[in-house]
Amino acid sequence: MSGHGTAQPMTARRSGPLTGRAEVPGDKSISHRALIFGAMAVGETRITGLLEGQDVLDTARAMRAFGAEVTRHGEGAWSVHGVGVGGFSEPADVIDCGNSGTGVRLIMGCMATTAMTATFTGDASLRKRPMGRVTDPLSLFGASAYGRSGGRLPMTVVGAANPVPVRYTTPVASAQVKSAVLLAGLNAPGETVLIEREPTRDHSERMLAGFGARVHVEKTPEGNVITLTGQPELRPQTVAVPRDPSSAAFPVCAALVVEGSDIFVPGVSQNLTRNGLYLTLVDMGADILFENPRQEGGEPVADLRVRFGPLTGIEVPPERAPSMIDEYPILSVVAAFAEGTTVMRGIRELRVKESDRIDAMARGLEACGVPVEEDEDTLIVHGMGPGGVPGGATARTHLDHRIAMSFLILGLASKQPVSVDDASPIITSFPVFTPLMARLGAHLEPAQ
Ligand code: S3P
Repeated sequence: MSGHGTAQPMTARRSGPLTGRAEVPGDKSISHRALIFGAMAVGETRITGLLEGQDVLDTARAMRAFGAEVTRHGEGAWSVHGVGVGGFSEPADVIDCGNSGTGVRLIMGCMATTAMTATFTGDASLRKRPMGRVTDPLSLFGASAYGRSGGRLPMTVVGAANPVPVRYTTPVASAQVKSAVLLAGLNAPGETVLIEREPTRDHSERMLAGFGARVHVEKTPEGNVITLTGQPELRPQTVAVPRDPSSAAFPVCAALVVEGSDIFVPGVSQNLTRNGLYLTLVDMGADILFENPRQEGGEPVADLRVRFGPLTGIEVPPERAPSMIDEYPILSVVAAFAEGTTVMRGIRELRVKESDRIDAMARGLEACGVPVEEDEDTLIVHGMGPGGVPGGATARTHLDHRIAMSFLILGLASKQPVSVDDASPIITSFPVFTPLMARLGAHLEPAQ
């Protein structure tokens, strides 16, 4: 079943060398946050390079429903006329966040300390995902949530009329949970303190500081202690969204596994809380040059020159997981073409993403003839060497954009074509994936 209209099966065939320039779209995490922080500032925030993927469009629609004026001026160029912290109005209808866990969890956070009620839902994938991880800390502020069993959507959140500040240690490494708490803390008086034992992506902290909130991050032996002073007046900003390292991962990894490839991927964020895949690929022996390092839109970026070459399986350091949490599916494709075994431990969180990504990758790789092992927290891929993957199967994507793109990349270097049952979820994060890959020389076509 597709959550985005009719299912679109797609096939990838073995391709010649991939060459040329791959300009990937804006960062999904930063795009969501630019719209949300813009809606909570007083006045007009201007955004360039916004990712116009379905997830972000759903967040734009939600911000309008809470009273912000959100306008598109041209490709990636948007403005948000914000209503200020505590200035949201109660939405007249259910907020549908589509496929986006980031959208729904951050928006729950930013309305939970305002006296209003909102009901949230999403597609069949999002309705399976746990929301208790955000509604538990939001209840400490005084909010209540009523959802389906297991804390699933649809869910109604009643915001706290008299919120109190919170001190909270996140039980899982999750930037969504951290961000929901910080967003809720904005409209609580006094200091909200969030402690994360393992550092996760820091876009919310950076953006809070940029929009003029008082936020202090202290690195301690217990982890990062983030202190936010509530009820600031957020000042509107100009936000230039850098290119998404999680989207860049697909052409980069394609070039690493398709023989003879040589591509250039400009302006990819190298934020240390996001670059775990790139460190891992280099550890595997990947030929990647990080050229012209610089700052863009407050983020470190570099241009990547990526060439095909031999790769060796490794044991991925588990402490790296938060900085590459979305990249394990495509890493397991690279691992299938490496010599030797790649061991990915400490990745239990993959089971509650857009799909159970350990299961989806293990089943699809097995169907394509790649030996794998898995347990609750681990995926092990036994590499078959360059060009050594048999392929010749259809992978189920379970409404998960990253599973769809990963198997299409697998098919570009497998002996036999690889199909996916539904490529339609790709529009959530990388709407130009197919034409971009085709321009590099990838053979992708609708399946029969
Ligand atoms: C995101 C955080 C991560 C990541 C997701 C985007 C964010 O989720 O998987 O794609 O923008 O905060 P978790 O917070 O669940 O780890």
